[in-house]
Amino acid sequence: MTDSLGLTRRMRRNRKAEWSRRLVRENRLTSDDLIWPIFLIDSAEAVSPVAWMPGVDRLNIDEAVRQAEAAARLGVPAIAPFPYVDRALRDETGSEALNSRNLMCRAVRAIKAAVPEIGIICDAALDPYTSHGHDGVMDGERILNDASVGILVRQALALAEAGADVIAPSDMMDGRVGAIRAALDASGHEDVQIMAYSAKYASAFYGPFRDAIGTNATLIGDKRTYQMDPANSDEAIAEVALDLEEGADMVMVKPGLPYLDVIARVKDTFSVPTFAYQVSGEYAMIMAAANNGWLDGDKAMLESLLAFKRAGADGVLTYFAPRVAKMLKERG
Ligand code: PBG
Repeated sequence: MTDSLGLTRRMRRNRKAEWSRRLVRENRLTSDDLIWPIFLIDSAEAVSPVAWMPGVDRLNIDEAVRQAEAAARLGVPAIAPFPYVDRALRDETGSEALNSRNLMCRAVRAIKAAVPEIGIICDAALDPYTSHGHDGVMDGERILNDASVGILVRQALALAEAGADVIAPSDMMDGRVGAIRAALDASGHEDVQIMAYSAKYASAFYGPFRDAIGTNATLIGDKRTYQMDPANSDEAIAEVALDLEEGADMVMVKPGLPYLDVIARVKDTFSVPTFAYQVSGEYAMIMAAANNGWLDGDKAMLESLLAFKRAGADGVLTYFAPRVAKMLKERG
């Protein structure tokens, strides 16, 4: 057979064998890249399944401690707990968020005591605690920015007191990063990091998360007056710039896969630690298709996570964290 095309460069040559593909591989996913979001519940039962997220459970505090230990053993650097708050404890202003004995604070203390080596990243936002399901406080149908920031600062302080390593404001109020940074510094928590949900979009992909924390039934309206318009990416750059000026140590883009262009722009523009959140809806899509036999779940999981690395993310919040860490460990 003659080489009829006379090609000098044949891209397939480097792909001819596994050893060669390994040698030229540009990006790698390791357990160091993973942050595991978990759901907490105050319950005698160890676990309660999240219907819209097959394979994900809400955990009581004892079980959360056990699973945090297991995750640490698998090499997962950090967890990000979210609470399912009893309906009776939710009110207009999210006052339970400020209770130093609330579910989150108790869980953080328990996990810190038992598994000091795992990082704990705690959300600052009021949605699990408000009767209306919004991340801030309302006046009629308006979400009040500055009043919300005042409460978020106090929530962040309660979490830092409990032992949170990182505060992750996910509320998208203006000025909250700076206000939280100032309050942390003024109270002896200058080592507590801030991972800002900087470019958080008003997305349809959060549905299963709202099932997990019980806000889908209560949310009044939508979050478009504070979360970003999916059409915009210049605006994401402006959000990240502000959060960095205000003292963010790490920034995040959320959701993940539909916003890989934003992740790449943020990383290229700022060269700071940049994270992606592979959100509940992205998890649910892969799981639903896999459970129907329509795609190979493990392969789709690995490919989606590698895509974040290729886009420039330093790490990914993913509900697949323990599963993928186990797989990576077994492969060696
Ligand atoms: C709320 C918050 C949300 C998520 C993380 N923090 C949902 C929302 O904004 O309504 C979504 C995470 C996911 O979908 O996995 N502060």
